[in-house]
Amino acid sequence: MTSVIDVANLTKGYGQDRGLNGVSFTVAPGEVLALLGPNGAGKTTCVEILEGHRRRDSGEVSVLGVDPALGGRRLRDRIGIVMQEAGIDPELTVREVLEHYGRAYSQRRAAVELAELVELTDRLDDRVSRLSGGQQRRIDLALGLVGTPELVFLDEPTTGFDPVARRRSWDVIGDLAAAGTTVVLTTHYLEEAEQLADRILVLVAGQIVAEGTPDELRRGAQRETTIRFGLPRVDAPLESLLEPLQGKASGRGMDLEVTTSRPTADLAHITGWALARGIELEGLVVETTSLEQAYLRLVEGEQP
Ligand SMILES: Nc1ncnc2c1ncn2[C@@H]1O[C@H](COP(=O)(O)OP(=O)(O)OP(=O)(O)O)[C@@H](O)[C@H]1O
Ligand SMILES: [Mg+2]
Repeated sequence: MTSVIDVANLTKGYGQDRGLNGVSFTVAPGEVLALLGPNGAGKTTCVEILEGHRRRDSGEVSVLGVDPALGGRRLRDRIGIVMQEAGIDPELTVREVLEHYGRAYSQRRAAVELAELVELTDRLDDRVSRLSGGQQRRIDLALGLVGTPELVFLDEPTTGFDPVARRRSWDVIGDLAAAGTTVVLTTHYLEEAEQLADRILVLVAGQIVAEGTPDELRRGAQRETTIRFGLPRVDAPLESLLEPLQGKASGRGMDLEVTTSRPTADLAHITGWALARGIELEGLVVETTSLEQAYLRLVEGEQP
């Protein structure tokens, strides 16, 4: 199957080593790709080159079979875009904005349908300026879908959303993907990437430093388990708790955190120790490496 996006050795320089420095990747039809990376890593630069909104310095780029630098309107008609910073006229109503942008596309969704998708039905006739920041951002998401695109670029689409709206928008994006739309997403929410992405690219200082499914990235990081609980208030010294542990114990505020590659043995020891003394371990949690921890290790190791 031919890829929807094909990028080879893409570079873009803004001087002082900023920009993109030889990025290569492909995106398959129907795939959801998340671009992660710290502020200034080059995510928006990369996405905007793929959209045809920015010029590249060098490299090969193909989007839906055409070079976006030359793609023009035919390509625009097949893609949807949610920019990191969108400029919508705040004096228009939500309905007017959705209808206005729809006109640019040959196959468009009705304003009513779009408003329903992003839960703004009751605000259709309000001016954009009357909406809250998160509600305005939901218009941006709707505009990304107005042209029934085959491919959508979502540059931090849920920034400013409340947690409920964010989860609902994951459903919207998930439904698009399930219907076969290819999605390229940038986000700073690791949970968002974990929920939505088939594959993740981590970009640091204009280069890809890791690539894989969310599971692969988690597994690539050192696989350890963290056991955490509130430090018990007991008169007896804690040596009998700490010394037999195989993992590493450290204090975190009022909590004790044990990082271990032998979670079964360490957990048995900790709970056995507490049971023998009739102590309830407050806030006891056991967790394996999260995508967020894996990401932080990757990025902290790579950042200049
Ligand atoms: N038009 C421009 N002129 C000069 N430098 C630029 C320009 N656009 C971006 N840059 C620089 O290129 C680097 C990458 O920017 P980019 O916007 O692609 O990062 P990003 O990964 O999207 O970051 P964020 O997470 O903050 O959105 C930054 O150092 C930025 O300052
Ligand atoms: Mg950006």
